[in-house]
Amino acid sequence: MAAGVRASESWVLVCFGALLARWVATGLEAVIIGEIHENITLHCGNISGPRGLVTWCRNDSESVFLLSSNSSLPPAQSRFSLVNASSLHIEALNLQDEGNYTCSEVLNKTETRRFQVWLQVATPPPSAPQCWAEVSPGLFSLQLNCRWAGGYPEPDFLWTEEPGGVVVGTSKLGVEMLSQSQLSDGKKFKCVGSHIVGPELGASCVVQIRSPSLLSEPMKTCLVGGNVTLTCQVSGAYPPAKILWLRNLTQPEVVIQPSGHHLITQSGQSSTLTIHNCSQDLDEGYYVCRAENAVGVRELDVWLSVKEPLNIGGIVATVVSLLLLGLALIAGLLFYYNPVFCWKGKGFPEWQDMGDVMVLVDSEEEDMEEEEDAAEEEEEEASEREESPVEITKYGHIHRVTALVNGNVDQMGNGLQALQDDSSEQQSDIIQEEDRPV
Ligand SMILES: *[C@@H]1O[C@H](CO)[C@@H](O)[C@H](O)[C@H]1NC(C)=O
Ligand SMILES: *[C@@H]1O[C@H](CO)[C@@H](O)[C@H](O)[C@H]1NC(C)=O
Ligand SMILES: *[C@@H]1O[C@H](CO)[C@@H](O)[C@H](O)[C@H]1NC(C)=O
Ligand SMILES: *[C@@H]1O[C@H](CO)[C@@H](O)[C@H](O)[C@H]1NC(C)=O
Ligand SMILES: *[C@@H]1O[C@H](CO)[C@@H](O)[C@H](O)[C@H]1NC(C)=O
Ligand SMILES: *[C@@H]1O[C@H](CO)[C@@H](O)[C@H](O)[C@H]1NC(C)=O
Ligand SMILES: *[C@@H]1O[C@H](CO)[C@@H](O)[C@H](O)[C@H]1NC(C)=O
Ligand SMILES: *[C@@H]1O[C@H](CO)[C@@H](O)[C@H](O)[C@H]1NC(C)=O
Ligand SMILES: *[C@@H]1O[C@H](CO)[C@@H](O)[C@H](O)[C@H]1NC(C)=O
Ligand SMILES: *[C@@H]1O[C@H](CO)[C@@H](O)[C@H](O)[C@H]1NC(C)=O
Repeated sequence: MAAGVRASESWVLVCFGALLARWVATGLEAVIIGEIHENITLHCGNISGPRGLVTWCRNDSESVFLLSSNSSLPPAQSRFSLVNASSLHIEALNLQDEGNYTCSEVLNKTETRRFQVWLQVATPPPSAPQCWAEVSPGLFSLQLNCRWAGGYPEPDFLWTEEPGGVVVGTSKLGVEMLSQSQLSDGKKFKCVGSHIVGPELGASCVVQIRSPSLLSEPMKTCLVGGNVTLTCQVSGAYPPAKILWLRNLTQPEVVIQPSGHHLITQSGQSSTLTIHNCSQDLDEGYYVCRAENAVGVRELDVWLSVKEPLNIGGIVATVVSLLLLGLALIAGLLFYYNPVFCWKGKGFPEWQDMGDVMVLVDSEEEDMEEEEDAAEEEEEEASEREESPVEITKYGHIHRVTALVNGNVDQMGNGLQALQDDSSEQQSDIIQEEDRPV
């Protein structure tokens, strides 16, 4: 422990001593780029041949001893070794190795030569470069951007037009401005990033600029006092388009500003214009959806017609009065042709029976139809009579009435007087009544 402390103290002294000594500045400084995980050799100047005592130190915030050609001083780390009695060899570079290194060479008792090397550790970017185009703020032009993050040191970027390879520009930033003459729908631009660590041909990405395409309904209708929403969908635009709504009632066309009357919302490349409280004078007419990016402008017309709302109250009143008229007419006819029915209808028990029959008629429509057929053809009717009660036995109290109805049919067919005339007439009337709405 104590020996270690003394040793590190002596190392600092070695560096300090080397620094204190009178030294000759070589005026030489080198920048060396090493690749992470690789080995690197830092030379102490460019002098070859026999050398004096050489000491390597880190020259950062404080000086740290690394290595000396005095073999009684061991290297600070086993990764460090001396090559050709003067050069510092570092194995398996890591990011912490980045910094300034100083070598001091004792020439004679009075003079020391010093040389500094700035070591940079390069890292390849982990992903591919990324390209995008954007409308440059203020200027109505396009800016191409290329980024290749994560690598070190910064890569170089070359933008070219594709196909053809006409050079747009080369830079460390990867940003190029395009003039209006360079813009045309569908044109492609390619960025090639070259990094010191490779790959040799660089890595690339491509952007394709496109003017917008529009989709919207050609016609819309709004009711006076109602609301209506016009939608405009932009597709294919690159860079994304700016979407505006205009009226073309007047020349020049007027851009619609959001207000209490006009609500404009945009989500992605889709814009909606909502018009509140539609009025025929103000709002009917052509609306223009305009989408523009630096590459192009597209417009689409939407016709809005404003209509008076239908008078629902009036319609309802008309329908109701027609219905009432119809009912009155039916009632009148019934009374005219069948006054007995209307008079008998007041009888309470009879109504109950009718109710039963009506239930039967609703649930057994087919039977009724078949029974009507049966009245014409007697042979079929006989089998009907057997079937009907079987089907209806579920409804206990109805069963009896079914027999009654069948009895009526029998009566009509065979002329038997099993039932009273009144009730038979009553039943057939009910059947007619029920048949009409079904
Ligand atoms: C680095 O140097 C060591 C020892 O000098 C050697 O074994 C190793 O292969 C070298 N590595 C590379 C990547 O050159
Ligand atoms: C060392 O570098 C200096 C300055 O660049 C140059 O003048 C000199 O010739 C070089 N010496 C050798 C041996 O390369
Ligand atoms: C580190 O390097 C700088 C620039 O070369 C020099 O001015 C400074 O004296 C050096 N510091 C040490 C401690 O060597
Ligand atoms: C080498 O280092 C040892 C220990 O620090 C020291 O005693 C010795 O004088 C040094 N030799 C030279 C030639 O500087
Ligand atoms: C060591 O010196 C020899 C001869 O000058 C040279 O060929 C060799 O490349 C040097 N080695 C390093 C690692 O600089
Ligand atoms: C190395 O020294 C140079 C000046 O010689 C300085 O600009 C640079 O920032 C230093 N690098 C580090 C990593 O400190
Ligand atoms: C030390 O070396 C330098 C350069 O090689 C030389 O100019 C100087 O005369 C030498 N001094 C002594 C005392 O030998
Ligand atoms: C029209 O929109 C306004 C505001 O959102 C709303 O208050 C009103 O009820 C809407 N009118 C109709 C007929 O939907
Ligand atoms: C409005 O647009 C329609 C449809 O494109 C066009 O027929 C009409 O002439 C335009 N009106 C004005 C005033 O530009
Ligand atoms: C709707 O518009 C009419 C005139 O166009 C106006 O009298 C009425 O106050 C408006 N209603 C609302 C709720 O804004």
